[in-house]
Amino acid sequence: MDALECLLTRDSAGRLTAPGPDRAALETMLQAAVRAPDHGRLRPWRFLVIETAQREAFGEVLASSLRRREPDASPEALQREREKALRAPVILVVAAHLQHGHKIPVVEQLAAVSAAAQTVLLAAHAQGWGAVWKTGAPAYDAGVRTALGFGTEDEIVGFLYLGTKVGGGVAVPRPPAAEFTRIWQG
Ligand SMILES: Cc1cc2nc3c(=O)[nH]c(=O)nc-3n(C[C@H](O)[C@H](O)[C@H](O)COP(=O)(O)O)c2cc1C
Repeated sequence: MDALECLLTRDSAGRLTAPGPDRAALETMLQAAVRAPDHGRLRPWRFLVIETAQREAFGEVLASSLRRREPDASPEALQREREKALRAPVILVVAAHLQHGHKIPVVEQLAAVSAAAQTVLLAAHAQGWGAVWKTGAPAYDAGVRTALGFGTEDEIVGFLYLGTKVGGGVAVPRPPAAEFTRIWQG
């Protein structure tokens, strides 16, 4: 796919199914991601691949998180939470390894990791894979962070769900960029 066509046509997948990207396709996405701009060359991104066989274990992590947030959560709600892990054959967790007190502000470290995450979405699209970036409360739960092997300096920036798109994309309106753009007149 032409690079501009890729940039101008990316959208988030509504539903995803198998097959998911294999390790070679993922490797390409990650190599693209580490080209993201990165003030101070801190390399703040951390990636964790959850392959199909580990999704149920990840679902338990999500359910435990819900139980911590809502001790009275119903069995049905817990089951719905578990099933979120099955939304795609592969999940890429993108985290930021933050250096607090560094001369590069934390907001810039997060910006670099966000740029990396977006690059993963674009590199997925370029290879014909569907993708969607999700967070929700589990992304901000220290218990989830620990269960996934991240440290206390790490912040989860997104769960990128990757797989084969089912049907068309979500019809999200795309207002012209001009609506958000001004030419400074001095
Ligand atoms: C940081 C971040 C977190 C997001 N978290 C969620 C989420 O938890 N659930 C969700 O439905 N969409 C979430 N989204 C939005 C989707 O990824 C997507 O951008 C949105 O549905 C619009 O679709 P589009 O990407 O095709 O414009 C998030 C986006 C970002 C940038």
